[in-house]
Amino acid sequence: SQSKLQLLQGHIRDFQDFPKKGVLFRDICPILKDPASLTAVTDLFEEHVKKHYKQVDLIVGMDARGFLFGPLLAQRLGIGFVLVRKKGKLPGPTVSVAYDLEYGKAEAEIQEDAVAPGQKVVLIDDLLATGGTLYAACELMRKQKAEVLGCMVVIELKELKGTDRLKPHGVFSLVQY
Ligand code: PRP
Ligand code: HPA
Repeated sequence: SQSKLQLLQGHIRDFQDFPKKGVLFRDICPILKDPASLTAVTDLFEEHVKKHYKQVDLIVGMDARGFLFGPLLAQRLGIGFVLVRKKGKLPGPTVSVAYDLEYGKAEAEIQEDAVAPGQKVVLIDDLLATGGTLYAACELMRKQKAEVLGCMVVIELKELKGTDRLKPHGVFSLVQY
């Protein structure tokens, strides 16, 4: 798995001052462009799930880049995938929660029937910054009485201390900066 991690590291690009001045943006697009790298992400997530969580009912992915990795993992595991979306995108009855971002504000939403009480879920996104997004998803899961087994991201930006915000939930990351 060391070589898989090295492959991933080689497929993350940095952009200074995007989307605004002072932000060093980590770009995961090269991972998606390279099938071996994308397979490595799914492999590493799958290994972690099988080793650390028993009986996962659903993978829950964050809008938008959690949607790139979540369904691949869910298919590997033979379980379903649920979308947490930015407000106003999902039809039917929904539940929502407001949250702060590293550079802005947003509201996260799920369909009311997306998860059932007592279901065990793993949350997935491309990147952990302040933890606001995943925290909002945890809140949604709490409202729906689902159990969060853990969070998984491709990239963790350590200095923003997102893991503190997500306590008591653990966060598994593949690459850390
Ligand atoms: C980014 C990223 C994570 C989130 C991480 O998405 O993909 O979802 O921010 O930041 P946080 O830990 O501080 O919440 P963004 O909100 O920029 O939107 P996008 O997915 O629509 O590009
Ligand atoms: N890269 C991608 N998405 C992000 C970042 C980043 O550095 N920070 C917050 N969301």
